[in-house]
This record gives sequence, structure tokens and C-alpha cells, in this order.
Amino acid sequence: MENIIIIGAGGFGREVKCLIEEINMSSAKKFNILGFVDDGIEKNTLVHELRVLGNIEYLESLLEKPSLVFGLGSPTLKKAIFEKLKEFNFPVLVHPKVSTNGKNIQIGRGSLICEGTIITCDVIISEFVTINLSCTIGHDAVIGMFSSLMPAVNISGEVLIEESVFIGTGAKVINQLTIGKNTIVGAGALVSKSLPNNCTAVGMPAKPIKFHD
Ligand SMILES: CC(C)(COP(=O)(O)OP(=O)(O)OC[C@H]1O[C@@H](n2cnc3c(N)ncnc32)[C@H](O)[C@@H]1OP(=O)(O)O)[C@@H](O)C(=O)NCCC(=O)NCCS
Repeated sequence: MENIIIIGAGGFGREVKCLIEEINMSSAKKFNILGFVDDGIEKNTLVHELRVLGNIEYLESLLEKPSLVFGLGSPTLKKAIFEKLKEFNFPVLVHPKVSTNGKNIQIGRGSLICEGTIITCDVIISEFVTINLSCTIGHDAVIGMFSSLMPAVNISGEVLIEESVFIGTGAKVINQLTIGKNTIVGAGALVSKSLPNNCTAVGMPAKPIKFHD
């Protein structure tokens, strides 16, 4: 049994708890979920029968280090929290109903893939990537570190998603395009041309509406 703590006890954190329980039911590898940590929820609050153990500082104070998983989708938050917790183990968590039977699929540590996602072949998923429910990832796609794909996102073949990109629910990216670092793609967008770094792009076709640091 591998002890594990979920970072974030909000809606996605609770979904990650269910994901781990479904992995436990269907695979030889078993996790013992110790609880959640969350900066915004009072210590000892019960969330789906598990305790909030404290905040991020609680983890830093632990002598015996459990494994950790991100139960939050914000690339910026994942990156900032990881900077404080570099010595911890972050396992890869893949729901049993994810299709990863193609050849040459790499999945980096701390990445999490939810139920119903299909990943074809020759795909690189870097570290700390979150792929939510029912996404599709086509051949030769690369998903950069800390990036997050919300439910039902479609990434076509040979797409490059750079570091810390957030793609809103139902968005589609057509083949051979690049989405630049730190960019946010709005829910339902159709990305038909590459997008630069540090922008928020929405619509069909997706166009930048603002730039941020
Ligand atoms: C794109 C997004 C990040 C913008 O958030 P924001 O920076 O707070 O921007 P605002 O809400 O102020 O919207 C700015 C403008 O863009 C429009 N807009 C926002 N999101 C849009 C979208 N997805 N598609 C089209 N237009 C959108 C707004 O209506 C607003 O238009 P206006 O200036 O004419 O009033 C957000 O709307 C979004 O789509 N988030 C994804 C959420 C998601 O997928 N969650 C998954 C949960 S599981």
C-alpha cells in the first residue's frame, strides 16, 4: 500500500479521490488515501469521509513523506505548490477506463488522466499534467509540464501544448498547431491557428482577447 495525500479538497480533489478508489478496485497497485491538504479549508473538516490534514505547510513539516497528487487544475497553482514540495513522490494516476493501448505513450510523474480519455500513439505527456474526463489526444501530440485539459477537450495529431497551458472544457485544437506557454483557451473554443504565450483566447475560431504576465 502506498500512502497518498490529495492536494486540494474542492470539487476536483473529490473527483481525484474517486479516481484513486477506482484504481484500487481494478489494479494490483493499491493506494491508502491519508486525507487532503487545502489552504482554504479548516483542518479536520471531513470531506467524503476523509480529513483535511492541514495546509501545504503541514506537508513540509512531515518527516515521513507520503506520495502526493494534485486535486486541482490550475497550472499556476500546481507549479507554485510543486516548487515547495520537490522532495515528494508524485505517482502517475491513470483511470482504468483510459485507453492508452497505443505504442510509445510517455506519461511523466505526477500526471493524472481521468475516465474516458483516449490517447492514441507516439504521445508525450510531460510531468504534472491533468487530463480531465473524456479527452482525446491524437498521434505525436506533446502536452507540456503543468498543463491542464478540462473535460472533453480534443487535441489533434502533432499538436504541441507548451508548459502551463489551461484548456477549457470542450475546446478543440486542430492538427499541427502550437499553444504557447501559460496560455488559457476558453471553454468551447476551436483553435484553428497557433496561439502565442501568455494570452487568453476564446471563440470559434479562437482569438486572443487579452494578454497576461
Ligand atoms: C476563457 C475564460 C478563462 C475567461 O475568463 P476571464 O478571464 O475571467 O474572462 P471574462 O469572464 O471576463 O470574459 C471576457 C470576455 O470573454 C467572453 N468569454 C469568456 N469565456 C468565453 C468562452 N469560453 N467563449 C467565448 N467567449 C467567452 C465573455 O463573455 C466576455 O465577453 P465581453 O467582454 O463581451 O463581456 C473562461 O470564461 C473559460 O472559458 N474558462 C474555462 C472554464 C472551464 O472549462 N472549466 C472547467 C471546469 S471542469
